[in-house]
Amino acid sequence: MTKNIAIFASGSGSNFQALLRAIEKQRLQANPVLLVCDSPHALVIDRAKAAGVDCFVFSPKAYSSKAMFEKDILLQLQEKHVDWIVLAGYMRLIGETLLTPFAGRILNIHPSLLPSFPGKDAIGQALQAGVNISGVTIHYVDHGMDTGPIIAQQAVVVRSDDTKASLARRIQKVEHALYPRIIQELFHETTALSV
Ligand code: GAR
Repeated sequence: MTKNIAIFASGSGSNFQALLRAIEKQRLQANPVLLVCDSPHALVIDRAKAAGVDCFVFSPKAYSSKAMFEKDILLQLQEKHVDWIVLAGYMRLIGETLLTPFAGRILNIHPSLLPSFPGKDAIGQALQAGVNISGVTIHYVDHGMDTGPIIAQQAVVVRSDDTKASLARRIQKVEHALYPRIIQELFHETTALSV
């Protein structure tokens, strides 16, 4: 059965858009039932509205704790019968309130070859370290910062004249192709296993 996914994002949403495009082209069988965004002015909200995807936008500062805003998110996820959470540039750790009910069903994409360069500004960190190869990692989400079990990785060569912008462009190109493909494979595996 087609899985209902909620995509969580904080920023521009190019990965969100790539997921929607893959769904539209039937390369990814999923229903994007909700965008969850923690940044009320993020560009990803415009993308969701243009595509007719419902949004839950919240401001973490309006809540006294992570548990409180995650409770509100959970209500939305339950209301929309969400099967999987797909993080696409959601710049926040996921807390117990969502980890427990969605154990093994939360994915993240990160712009480095983890465990190298976790956290913020992974592309800047890679350039700073002077590595010749960086890349993209897709992994399950656990309590830590980009620490969950790795599902897939793809390398991207770092050129000697790369800037943050040029490397980010090549890394994002890889992300946009890899994320929908891996999610599709995963959904098929889990469907096959649950039959
Ligand atoms: C992506 O490159 C994603 O890998 C990264 O944020 C970017 C969001 O771009 N995520 C992380 O760094 C998570 N630790 P987008 O808003 O254009 O999809």
